[in-house]
Amino acid sequence: MAIVPGEIVELFQRHFRSSGDPVVYRAPGRVNLIGEHTDYNLGYVFPIAIEMACYAAIAPASHGKVRLYSRDLDERYEIQAKEIAGAKPTHSWSDYVIGVAQELTKAGIEIGPADICVASDVPTGSGLSSSAALEIASAVALLGPRSLPKLEIARLGQRAESQFVGVPCGIMDQYASVFGRENAAIQIDCRSLQHEYVPLPDDASIVAVNSMVKHELGSSAYRERVAECQEAVRAIQNFQPGVQSLRDVPLSLFQQIEEHIPDVPRRRARHVISDSQRVLDLAAAARARDLPGMGRLFVASHRSMQDDYEISCDEIDFLVDTAIQIPGVYGARMTGGGFGGCTVNLVAPEARETFERYLCTAYRERYGKGAAFYDCKPAAGAQRVAVDP
Ligand code: GLA
Repeated sequence: MAIVPGEIVELFQRHFRSSGDPVVYRAPGRVNLIGEHTDYNLGYVFPIAIEMACYAAIAPASHGKVRLYSRDLDERYEIQAKEIAGAKPTHSWSDYVIGVAQELTKAGIEIGPADICVASDVPTGSGLSSSAALEIASAVALLGPRSLPKLEIARLGQRAESQFVGVPCGIMDQYASVFGRENAAIQIDCRSLQHEYVPLPDDASIVAVNSMVKHELGSSAYRERVAECQEAVRAIQNFQPGVQSLRDVPLSLFQQIEEHIPDVPRRRARHVISDSQRVLDLAAAARARDLPGMGRLFVASHRSMQDDYEISCDEIDFLVDTAIQIPGVYGARMTGGGFGGCTVNLVAPEARETFERYLCTAYRERYGKGAAFYDCKPAAGAQRVAVDP
């Protein structure tokens, strides 16, 4: 459901029985265009921040607590502000907010009593980073006028997720939510944590298609992939002791030694090393406005996730394989952590309507359920939003 900042103010006032005006912040979700599972291997990623976002309305309070209300779940949570530093996870949505508050405290930022109302239109479990949007919206709301370097905001969001929520994620999602820019993709180097904005050709639409599949396998398989990549690094160290992460392994070196790496870590490494290279290739193709070339990279990335990283599923493969048969579709691939969620498609604007009609019908015929389509325009990163009086 799209969000109008005025509505969240009203909801805030109704819910907290407050007549005070909260300040509203917004932090976007993201679609990753290429470079999947490369971030925690310190490689490259290439996301765009999107217009779908999480909104947080906040006002200071005098009751000593941090009180949270989620519009989407119609649930509340509260904790004494002075207990945040020692808080333990409760395994619910509030962990994303409290984890961030705890990280802010560790960074020396005092978290005083406050009321916070959150509402998001980033679909959950869809691979579009609803969690990072909630973390970063919470971070900028809790910070208020106090400032922290943007990179520090992204890093503390990531730490909240890996240490408090307990998913050992990379930096991509929080980074994109902080650094998003209108009309540009962000090429992030996850080793140096530097980025470059890359303008995208304006004669292609980026469309995310939600398979509506959410495999519970997701977080355990994510951990498993992280461990398998570490296993690959250890195997490669027998030949090149200086290698610290898969980022240190050029494709040419990998090809020389791959036969000595056991099957599973070998395939995981092949995906990571090749997909990180595909980020650089996609950025070059985007700059050259080479849409067919970009499309081919999308498909190569998908095959690599399907066969080598083994994080796709039937529904997603069907969406990709069907999409690339449709005239005017340059390429398609799964985006995000995997095992369901969304595909991202590069589509000629004149084919956009047929694309949706055809793919939606085919998906329904095959799986008996609909898919949701989202037009993804690169959007700005986290910011305070003006509320119309
Ligand atoms: C999730 C994680 C990211 C990244 C992607 C896969 O979204 O949060 O850090 O690893 O999966 O590319």
